[in-house]
Amino acid sequence: MTEAMVRISQVRKSFGSHEVLRGISLDVPERGVVCVVGPSGSGKSTLLRCVNRLETITAGRIWVDGELIGYRELDGRGSRRRGLCLLKPAELCKQRESIGMVFQRFHLFPHRTALENVMEGPVTVQRVNRVDAERLARRLLDRVGLADRADYYPAQLSGGQQQRVAIARSLAMSPKLMLFDEPTSALDPELVQEVLTVMRDLAADGMTMMVVTHEMGFAREVADHLVFIDGGVIVEQGPPREVLGNPRHERTRAFLGQVV
Ligand SMILES: Nc1ncnc2c1ncn2[C@@H]1O[C@H](COP(=O)(O)OP(=O)(O)OP(=O)(O)O)[C@@H](O)[C@H]1O
Ligand SMILES: [Mg+2]
Repeated sequence: MTEAMVRISQVRKSFGSHEVLRGISLDVPERGVVCVVGPSGSGKSTLLRCVNRLETITAGRIWVDGELIGYRELDGRGSRRRGLCLLKPAELCKQRESIGMVFQRFHLFPHRTALENVMEGPVTVQRVNRVDAERLARRLLDRVGLADRADYYPAQLSGGQQQRVAIARSLAMSPKLMLFDEPTSALDPELVQEVLTVMRDLAADGMTMMVVTHEMGFAREVADHLVFIDGGVIVEQGPPREVLGNPRHERTRAFLGQVV
């Protein structure tokens, strides 16, 4: 059996008195692709944001590649206490670097070209020299089909092209895991496929991915596992064809009836 790349165990997250995640447990195997679907406000983005610690969980644990996210486990040996100890900001940044995240909005630097956007992380965070960073960035732009747009600024690119630059920029940090939060929702319909194609290729190359999406065709073809979340709990999960083709719960049926 492959080791889980992501292990989410009994995770709860509240904002004030509003409990948004109410005991989520989910494993994503290495090289696996999990799609997360569910109604607006069900906690999908919050779940992804907890995985890379943009949000602090209220209870439970998350491991990525065997490392506990956000905390160090104290084993109680010596004079140290048993329990969890918060990681220092630098340690958190290190963890976050290994997890790529692509959002609905592309968040590119507007005054930097596509090439400079992709080079930014390696140069400023990983201290890669500019020659190597540029070589890497050109290779990644080529991989997302934008070799000829390296010198364009975001405003000169279509939404689909900007999103592909954003994916290349995440890949430049050599992530172990990629999180996608509705990466095609802000795109005009005719631009959706070019982004999904890049994501499909990434999955085929063995990238471990968690994808929040309303693209059920993509989920059916690319995901190994589909999770339906409603009200902060996993209502139903399984192989995408089963969940989509033969949903067992009324809530899943109602949701799928609206989006498919
Ligand atoms: N920073 C925050 N402070 C307070 N409440 C929040 C915060 N972030 C999210 N929430 C609440 O948590 C709930 C879940 O939000 P979340 O963004 O995870 O939903 P979602 O499933 O991603 O929805 P959508 O499909 O609309 O993107 C919502 O009720 C939202 O208002
Ligand atoms: Mg969301």
